[in-house]
Amino acid sequence: MNRKDFIKTASLASILAMTGLTLQSCSSDSEDTDPNPNDPNDPNGGGQANTVQFSIANSPFTALQNDQGWLLHPQEDILLINVGGTISAFTSVCTHSGCARDWTFPNQLFTCNCHGSQFDSNGAVVTGPASSPLARLNLTRNGNDITITI
Ligand code: FES
Repeated sequence: MNRKDFIKTASLASILAMTGLTLQSCSSDSEDTDPNPNDPNDPNGGGQANTVQFSIANSPFTALQNDQGWLLHPQEDILLINVGGTISAFTSVCTHSGCARDWTFPNQLFTCNCHGSQFDSNGAVVTGPASSPLARLNLTRNGNDITITI
């Protein structure tokens, strides 16, 4: 390598090093700055719980307007049921082996069709092989508007 090539290479290395330091500084600043670290609706999460919101006036949630109406949330792993006007939410992740999307509701029992476990409308195990209840999720209702904390 001659003197001219050495200077070109050294200059490029210096420029890259300076650029890299600048990018690293910007990246570090943006990761450390969350203006709403405790806001559950913050897309950065802030390490906090997420919320799911919908209206039972809109499809496909209208089934929840009726006693014993139930559904598996189409995007979230959440089972929902109306019992006597009170809507409850449970995780749809089965406590047996983790199936989350293959549920039916025959005879008023949440039935995981992966291996046949059944749960009542309070999430309690009725039929194994599951041995633990479904986890209940925090649900608040304001008229037709439902908010679930995951
Ligand atoms: S995963 Fe639900 S019964 Fe096995």
